[in-house]
Amino acid sequence: MSSRASGKRRGAPRAGSPTPLATHRRRTAAYVTLGLLVATAIWAVAGAPIPGRSESPATTAANPRDGKALYITHCASCHGERGEGQPDWKTKKADGTYPAPPHDPSGHTWHHADGLLFRIVRDGGQVAGGPGIRSAMPAWNDTLTDAQIRATLEYIKTLWGPAERKAQANASVSDPYP
Ligand code: HEC
Repeated sequence: MSSRASGKRRGAPRAGSPTPLATHRRRTAAYVTLGLLVATAIWAVAGAPIPGRSESPATTAANPRDGKALYITHCASCHGERGEGQPDWKTKKADGTYPAPPHDPSGHTWHHADGLLFRIVRDGGQVAGGPGIRSAMPAWNDTLTDAQIRATLEYIKTLWGPAERKAQANASVSDPYP
């Protein structure tokens, strides 16, 4: 063994120096390890998002500030920048749907518990309204995560006064966020 090894090394530029291939392999291994560490860190910080919408309310607090940006991007076109809704929102349209209602205290969003509001946003007005209901409220489950839906609803709550917030919090006791 020793004679074979020394025989092989004779004439090499530096005895014991790794071959370029070995160095490459070691570097690749280092990069893969580093990549895994970074991915794990991102996964941990992001709260293990996707696949399968599996976040739980306990681990992902809904943040109204994130919710405002989401609301402006996805909801304001129908419900209004300040939650004022569309004109004549109580009057049925020719196609059997209603205009988008306000989310501010003049509407009735604050009459509904967290659970129902969540289901309306996730599954759409059609599903939440039951059979025979025609609704122009889209389902957001393909666009927003559960945490983002909660954050958007928490933002809507900032449009209410103390009385609306208290009444809605009471209503949510028996039907909380999923
Ligand atoms: C294309 C227009 C449109 C968009 C965009 C839209 N909505 Fe709606 N939304 C409606 C309509 C119309 C209704 C009333 C549904 C009905 O009566 O069938 C509604 C109803 C609701 C309700 C129930 C309100 C109540 O008082 O009962 C909530 C909550 C709601 N939307 C939240 C949202 C959120 C959050 C977003 C953004 C992620 C959003 N909507 C985006 C049209 C829209």
